[in-house]
Amino acid sequence: QTFLFSSSCRRDGEPPLIKGWIPIIGKALEFGKDAHKFLEKHKEKYGDVFTVQIAGKYMTFIMDPLLYPNIIKHGRQLDFHEFSNRVAPFTFGYPPVTGKYPGLREEIRRSFHLLQGDGLIALTESMMGNLMLVFRQDHLAERPGEEGSWKSGNIYQFCFTVLFEATFLTLYGKPPAARRHSGMGVLREDFIKFDKMFPLLIAQIPIWLLGRTKAIRENLIRCFLPHRMSIWSNKSQFIRRRSEVFDQYDTLRDFDKAAHHFAILWASLGNTVPATFWTMYYLVSHPEALEVVRQEIHDVLRTNGVEFSRDRDVTISRELLDKLLYLESSINESLRLSSASMNIRVAQEDFDLQLDSERSVPVRKGDIIALYPQSMHLDPEIYEEPQTFQFDRYTQDSKKKTDFYKDGEKLKYYLMPFGSGSSKCPGRYFAINEIKQFLCLLLLYFDLQLEEGQTRATVDSSRAGLGILLPTTDIRFRYRLRVNQD
Ligand code: HEM
Repeated sequence: QTFLFSSSCRRDGEPPLIKGWIPIIGKALEFGKDAHKFLEKHKEKYGDVFTVQIAGKYMTFIMDPLLYPNIIKHGRQLDFHEFSNRVAPFTFGYPPVTGKYPGLREEIRRSFHLLQGDGLIALTESMMGNLMLVFRQDHLAERPGEEGSWKSGNIYQFCFTVLFEATFLTLYGKPPAARRHSGMGVLREDFIKFDKMFPLLIAQIPIWLLGRTKAIRENLIRCFLPHRMSIWSNKSQFIRRRSEVFDQYDTLRDFDKAAHHFAILWASLGNTVPATFWTMYYLVSHPEALEVVRQEIHDVLRTNGVEFSRDRDVTISRELLDKLLYLESSINESLRLSSASMNIRVAQEDFDLQLDSERSVPVRKGDIIALYPQSMHLDPEIYEEPQTFQFDRYTQDSKKKTDFYKDGEKLKYYLMPFGSGSSKCPGRYFAINEIKQFLCLLLLYFDLQLEEGQTRATVDSSRAGLGILLPTTDIRFRYRLRVNQD
């Protein structure tokens, strides 16, 4: 794709302006082929702060991570929700949450607390049971004559299938008189088709231009119609609370309520599945790291009196998950390498944005301020050999490592896959826990190997700016039940 640029003089103190056009054809929020490269190139030429004119909008990029805290703390003047309130309803098919529904926005935000704190204990416990159920029924049973033999699979597909069902059961509950929902396969297929179109919907391409996407989205939404959900038991408190809130609004149709529930299904899987893929992929392709992580899991279980045997279900509480430092570091390292979310803020008024003690830039109402943490994640000054997976990068002396430096100064923000400030992902602790649980089961039960003759996994940047990047192609692996248990 081509860019046409010219830079022009601006008012005193305003950052350099890069005018041009970016054809947003087919690929939303994609800065040419590679947003990271695009921004790095401009940083070299224009410095740490520059403005890009995109489709009539002014977007100022703040590239120096030492300046991030000053942007993130401007909650009042720089608002995130103006952007998400417009984009999310369009993407997921519910009516914009406006004054027509007094108090709804606040109630929705309040419900997010149920994903954290005490709510997280129940969620983690329920997720463990559901992961175990899916693993046991689909992967742990061996056919007679096939004991100890290798099976092959695709890493992405494996992660997606297990997490999709376990997450669904954990959040929305199970059907009457059965432990699992029927029809998960069809739902999964529809989800994948919708997910492919997700970047285009976020770019607000009208859904009727996207082939069958509208019909597919409707199928997905209908699954959450109140009369269906009402017969499911074991729902999470989070989803129960949200249903109660929606029921207080006569003006919300059943379909609208269902669309809100569908949005949460996407939020809970859209990034978690690729994040799990990358962690599993990096561990399986670094056997020495995988062994350290596996040993850590066994050690933590043993020292905390949890017996592990292949024939019994294992439970790993939230408290034990917190002790898995190498596993957590491997997940963080995978997030560092695969996350490309952009943090967007919209200026609510004209004001001077103080960047540091010496510099400020004038910002006009409606301007967009953007942080692009991928540039920080791949900065060689902060992370030595930034393209290499180092599973223990976030540990030091058997503790979490939290000090990372730029220009000799300690960074307040050094890893930002979950956004920042008021738009930070409310599901982040749940997400990390479920990735940990999934990997614990995988490493406890299976020997794992990459199949030979494959090229390395590469990121597909068509959703650059939107979260965790997907792999360009799936990767084949082999797994077999472990015989020798520690
Ligand atoms: C929002 C990342 C998992 C629920 C966000 C945002 C990011 C993010 C970057 C902010 C969006 C923005 O600034 O544009 C991630 C990543 C995950 C993950 C990387 C996994 C590795 C989850 C899970 C849930 C969840 C498991 C559980 C339900 C949400 C919700 C929002 C959100 C509800 C919207 C918050 C709001 O409207 O203020 N996530 N997320 N996320 N996430 Fe996550």
